[in-house]
Formats: sequence, C-alpha cells, structure tokens
Amino acid sequence: MFKHIIFFLTILTFLVSLSGAASAKDSHSYANVDAVISTHLHLDLTVDFDRKVLTGFAEYDIGRVGPNDGFFILDTRDLDIHKVDVLDHGWQPTSFELAAADATLGSKLTITLPVKAKKIRIYYTTRPEASGLQWLTPAQTASKKYPFLFTQSEAIHTRSWVPIQDTPALRLTYTAHIRTPENLFAVMSAENDPDAPRDGDYNFTMVHKIPPYLLALGVGDIHFKAMAGNTGIYAEQYILDAAAAEFADTYKMVKVTEKLYGPYRWGRYDILMMPPSYPMGGMENPMLSFITPTVIAGDKSLVDLIAHELAHSWSGNLVTNASWDDVWLNEGMTSYVENRIMEEVYGSARAMMEKTLSAEGLQREMETLDLRDTSLHVDLQGRDPDGAFSNVPYVKGQLFLVYLEEKYGRAAFDPFLKGYFTTHAFQNMTSEKFIAYLKENLMDKHPGVVSMDKIKEWIYGTGMPDDTPNATSGIFAKVRAQQAAWLEGKMTLEQIPTMGWTVHQWLHFITNLPKDMTSDRMAELDRAFDLVNSRNNEIAHAWLLQGLRHGYSAITPRLRSYLPSIGRLKLIKPLYKQMAETPEGLKLAREIYAPARPGYHPSAQKALDKILGE
Ligand code: BES
Ligand code: ZN
Repeated sequence: MFKHIIFFLTILTFLVSLSGAASAKDSHSYANVDAVISTHLHLDLTVDFDRKVLTGFAEYDIGRVGPNDGFFILDTRDLDIHKVDVLDHGWQPTSFELAAADATLGSKLTITLPVKAKKIRIYYTTRPEASGLQWLTPAQTASKKYPFLFTQSEAIHTRSWVPIQDTPALRLTYTAHIRTPENLFAVMSAENDPDAPRDGDYNFTMVHKIPPYLLALGVGDIHFKAMAGNTGIYAEQYILDAAAAEFADTYKMVKVTEKLYGPYRWGRYDILMMPPSYPMGGMENPMLSFITPTVIAGDKSLVDLIAHELAHSWSGNLVTNASWDDVWLNEGMTSYVENRIMEEVYGSARAMMEKTLSAEGLQREMETLDLRDTSLHVDLQGRDPDGAFSNVPYVKGQLFLVYLEEKYGRAAFDPFLKGYFTTHAFQNMTSEKFIAYLKENLMDKHPGVVSMDKIKEWIYGTGMPDDTPNATSGIFAKVRAQQAAWLEGKMTLEQIPTMGWTVHQWLHFITNLPKDMTSDRMAELDRAFDLVNSRNNEIAHAWLLQGLRHGYSAITPRLRSYLPSIGRLKLIKPLYKQMAETPEGLKLAREIYAPARPGYHPSAQKALDKILGE
C-alpha cells in the first residue's frame, strides 16, 4: 500500500512538473509547493480603519503534489498569527512556527499538516505598516469625508495581508467575505456586484485560478458607472464621470485585443480609480484594473495605461511568469500587446510615437543601470524584486517581440502569439519554456530567419543587440528639426506649429532638450508655452525634471505643489532623485518631502527615504 502511494505521488509530481505548476524554483518564496499546494483560498476579513488592520482568517483547500513531509509552508510578512486549525475529522488546532523575519522575504510560516488534512484555517491580523496595504485617512482622500484602503500585492506583498504560498508559479481560485464600516463599499479582483447592498458586508468569487500577486482589495466611498459592453468604472464620486469619459474607448480595446489574441477570458473588465497617492500607474488585478488618477488628462492622451493593464489579461494574468526573474514575460509581452492595441484603436502614428518615447526612455536609463540588470532574464536571488525595477523588462522585452514581428512578419507572428496565449492559458511560463515554444512553433516552421544564438542574446545577453529595431517616428523627426532650428536661432518659438501638437510631441520635445542649454532658454520656452503650468502630469513631470537639470529655479513653486499631490513613483522619484544631486536641491527636497511623506504609500516612502535619507 505504502509503495503504491509513493509511486502515485511520484507520478503526480512528474505530471505537475510537466504542466509547469511550481516547476521553476522561485527564490522569493519559502512555500513548499513541490509537496503541498493551496488550490482554493477563502478569506474572511474585517476591515478595521481605526486600528488600520485586517483581521480574520484565511482558509485553504490543500492539494498534495509530492511526498508529504508533514508540513505546509507559507509566506508571511508582519502578520500576527493567532492560531491554525486543520480539517481532518472536524476542525482541530495544529501547531505552527513563525520564523524570524528576513528583510526581503518576510517570515516563513511552517504549519504541521496531518496526513489526511483537507483544509487549513489560519487566524491572523495584519500590521498597520503592512507593505501591501495603504490606509488613507479621510483627509488623505479627495472627498475628505471617507477613508480608503487599497492593496498593492505585486510582486511579493500579498504575504503582508494574507498568509499565502506567495509564488507566481502557483495558481488558486478564491472567495472572500469582507466586512467594512457600513457606509463604505468593497471591491476585489473578482466578480463584483455594483448593486450589492451597501451594508458593510460583501462577498466575492474569483472562479479562475490566479497567481497570489493578483489578489486585490479596495475599500472606500466607491461608486459605479457602466461603460460600453463588459466595461465600467468604480471610483469616488468626484472622478466617476471624468474617468468614464477618459476611458470611454476601453471596450473597443477589449474587442481589438480579442481579435488579435483570442477571447477575453475573465468576464467583466472594470477599472478602479485609485486615490492620488497610489504608487503605481496601474495594476492588472483581474476583472478590475487599479488605475492612477494622474492619467486623467481630459484628452485621452495617457490611455495607453489602460491598454497596458488590459493587455495583462492575456500576458501575465493568463500566462504568468513563474518567478520574478522572468518578469519580462509579463511586462515585455504586455508592453508589446499594449502598443498593438494603441495602433488598432488610435492609429499607427500615435502607436509609433509611444513606441519611440519608450525606446528613448530605455536608452537613457540603460546608461545608469548595473550591467547585470540589462538582460531580460535576471537572477534576483537575494534581492527585492521592487529594487530591481526598471524599463528593461518592459521596453527591451517589447523591442524583442517587435524584432520577432519584423523578422517573421505579422502574418506569421500574430497567430504565433495568439497560440502562445491559448496553449498556456492559466499556466506559468519561464524564459526556457518560452524559447522551447518559440523554437517549435515559429523558428522551426520558418527556418533560417532567426538563429537560436540571437534569441539567447536577446534573453540572456546584457545591453541591446546591434540589430535592435529602431522605432522612428516621422512626426518626431520634424519636432527635432524644429527644435534644432530654434536652438540655432533659425526659427522663433512662435514659428513652430505647436498648436496641433499631441502630448507625445511635447514629451519628445522636452525630453530631448540639450543638456548644456541655459536656464534662460527654459524661461523662454515657459514664456511661449507655459509648460510649468501644464495640467498634463507627464508633461509637467518632464518639464520639472528638465528645470532641475538646467538650474531653472522658476519651477520651484510648481515643484512644491506637484510633488505632494502625486503618489505615482514614476512621476515623483526622478524629481526627488535629481534634486538630491546638489546640496541646495537636497535641502529643498527634504523640505517638500517631510510634510508630504505621510500621504505617500509605504513602498514610496521606502524608496524616497533611501534617496533623501539624512
Ligand atoms: N504589473 C505592473 C505593476 C508592477 C510591476 C507592480 C512590478 C509591481 C511590480 C503594471 O502592469 C505596470 O506595468 N504598471 C506601469 C504601467 C506602465 C508601464 C504603462 C506603471 O505603474 O507605471
Ligand atoms: Zn504591466
């Protein structure tokens, strides 16, 4: 009998490793997913705004995939674990051990697992400083009346609000019962009912298996407005209509992506508008992308962010990087798909401008990076994935796919990518598996087009390959020519036809101003275009950064109002960093940062403390 069990388990392990679940070792998780996996999570949590904690239990259905070593190991960070029960013959307590915390990974939670236990229930409370939660007081929200709570779980922050096997190699379904103060509304990365009675008692179901980093919760004075088809907006009232207008093309985006890459598999696609302190641009929580309000520009000029988060419904959420070492499989693929969506919905001129801006941004950043961080596949063992964040997985990943697209042609490449998503739907992916699939389904079918060495150079090599496709926008070429003419005194600013310029043209113009330009020239530009007061957050950011680089002090008042009003790291971190370059700048930065700090997200505080630390 015993032998049979061992044999059976061995076969199972083999099958699981074939199917890809938990095949690559994830250095950012303690979980023993090669032995025991959680197949379903039920969360039962009370949201306590007074204490700034979540409290309740997480209950797991247990699946066995390898020889049982008698333990169920999970990831936690800053959680207080009260007790653990197992369902064997009825519920009964079991022993557990919470290890000392590792600064990056948190505390390993080892639970004694009886041989026949089918479920496990962990009673716990989070800490106010949980890295994956942001608790906003009413004063920190736009309404000023109601508090707001949101999660940001990617990459390894789920463990700070749920004890969990926190590796993207694992997938599980979940249900949740969330209690909030009575006047607030809760939404999750799951099926949401906008008409649920607003009574502080909410239930959710995610029927598809998702990786743990896609668990998400938002609680606040949240209302709903339907948009076309399966799309809609959740937001505080003040921004509901503006968001619905700005993102009115979302359903069109869903449709064109389905045409290119196969059906949208998640049911609804809604958007949750985050408070201004949200540290990210967006987060692809399934069925409900979390989106920064900083992209509401009034002219749809920054909706590539929506295309991006939507694209993750295929690249990332359907086919998921097995570990953070291969985050390019999520972000590079997504940046590629995002740009294809933008092309379909807004035309190739705009898509080309966006691609060019990304490529220019990568080029600038490449020079500042550690060489080891310039390859697509990285070894992040011993490092915090947050600390290794850069444009490389995004833009180098995107350009790699553009390279393949150009080599094989869209007629071959588009069906290949569609097949990739269909074949690996609800599974995980590694660089190695991607290469094998690419070889079999594209390279071998069209021999002699691209060599395996070339593919490996793209994925494992540092820097950019010599034959990187160059994104060149004709519209941008004109902008540069006019800029040069002005700098050489051959053209006045009034003669440049900026009236019809898009945000992208402005960004290109500003980011490419020469390093040695005088601050008088900056002032001249401001007199003509009033860039310092631009209401477009990307333009304002680009202008402020150039102002700092060119010692143009007239921007100081705008810096003082801009920096505390925005939590999105991409828009504020470069400014603080630039200020920290000079003693006077650092002084000003600290002066602005001190009162602004409490309004920023814990992860933003951590990043900015490091830059501005005494
Ligand atoms: N999934 C990312 C956000 C993320 C990445 C969180 C890595 C934690 C670790 C999201 O889809 C994203 O890429 N957001 C970008 C959007 C932009 C590139 C269009 C952002 O927030 O700026
Ligand atoms: Zn992304």
